[in-house]
Amino acid sequence: MKAVVSTLAALALGLAAVPARADEPPPPLADNGLVRTPPMGWNSWNKFACNVDEALIRKTADAIAASGMKDAGYEYVVIDDCWQGERDAQGYIQPDAKRFPSGMKALGDYIHSRGLKFGIYSDAGLKTCGGRPGSWGHEYQDARQYAAWGVDYLKYDWCMAGGQHAPSSYYIMSRALQETGRDIVLSICEWGGSKPWLWGPQVGNLWRTTGDIYDAWEGVKGYSMGVMNILDRNADLHPYARPGHWNDPDMLEVGNGGMTTEEYRAHFSLWAMLAAPLIAGNDVSAMDADTKAILTNREVIAIDQDPLGVQARRVSKQGDLEVWARPLQGGGRAVVLLNRGKASAPIRVDWAQLDYPAGLKAKVRDLWAAKDLGTMKGGYQASVASHGVVMLTVQP
Ligand code: GLA
Repeated sequence: MKAVVSTLAALALGLAAVPARADEPPPPLADNGLVRTPPMGWNSWNKFACNVDEALIRKTADAIAASGMKDAGYEYVVIDDCWQGERDAQGYIQPDAKRFPSGMKALGDYIHSRGLKFGIYSDAGLKTCGGRPGSWGHEYQDARQYAAWGVDYLKYDWCMAGGQHAPSSYYIMSRALQETGRDIVLSICEWGGSKPWLWGPQVGNLWRTTGDIYDAWEGVKGYSMGVMNILDRNADLHPYARPGHWNDPDMLEVGNGGMTTEEYRAHFSLWAMLAAPLIAGNDVSAMDADTKAILTNREVIAIDQDPLGVQARRVSKQGDLEVWARPLQGGGRAVVLLNRGKASAPIRVDWAQLDYPAGLKAKVRDLWAAKDLGTMKGGYQASVASHGVVMLTVQP
């Protein structure tokens, strides 16, 4: 009887749809119809961590609009952790008044006035990773507050989540966002622990697949990983990405100083192959020419944004030499020849590895060289620099 009463109570509260078992995915929410191609934008965390304030966000929005980043497709300006102050007497979250004295609505208006979209960060636990108030127990109230501020994108983290069932917890926030009636992208940041690629497509628009990136080619530092480590962790996740729902191998480190230009070009190319969200993480107001050239390469961005939305697979690996490929709308392929080794080396792709007939003739274009290489029969081979890529399109 007690069970029947609590089931009825749950039904009355509209909670019956939330699953009770950890291995049971929640029922699908209505698709919010957003980000049919991977979201593009900027996020404060990789470069500025907790040092965020309204002047930085305004300056960054100006720089995105003026630098050519906006024209290249970067759209969401996302304030990561540490913007929060306390909750007011009614429980509504307020920004840190010292850092955001003009308030979040004014900041959102400013971002929108630059033709950009406004993103914010919260956490499904009691506190964010930076120790600010989390959304646990305030999900609907926070969603309403964000909507009132004009927020277009929420990154929702997983610190201090206190044993909650991740799919249910993200489901609650997803539903709260949808019930505001505003279009708000939900970026799930659960770090891959409960396989969010299995339930994320039903709950949100993108889901982090790993712990945090750090600005290095390779390595593990506590919970953080270099680019190659994250790449490997995403290699088998291609079946889960599709328009509106993307694997998120974390934000870009391009321009933050820890890698060479060659490595940053490889990082950006591989993220484009993974159909990853392209969320710049550098100081956009002070980019050097190499950083800008990488982040705004239209041909590479076009691969990331290909409307077919199919994530690349690793089609061959011989030691440090790899070939990654993804099909494109219109029957072509994007290919990355990746050299993880210490010396430059030749890498070959055969058309048969791209699910083409072995003897096919296809036009090959080198995207970083911005050069048509001609028609090649059967395959193509190039010399690839150490920690570098050659990125191609192949068109039969
Ligand atoms: C976690 C997330 C990061 C960042 C920080 C903020 O580590 O994975 O991307 O949002 O929290 O504290």
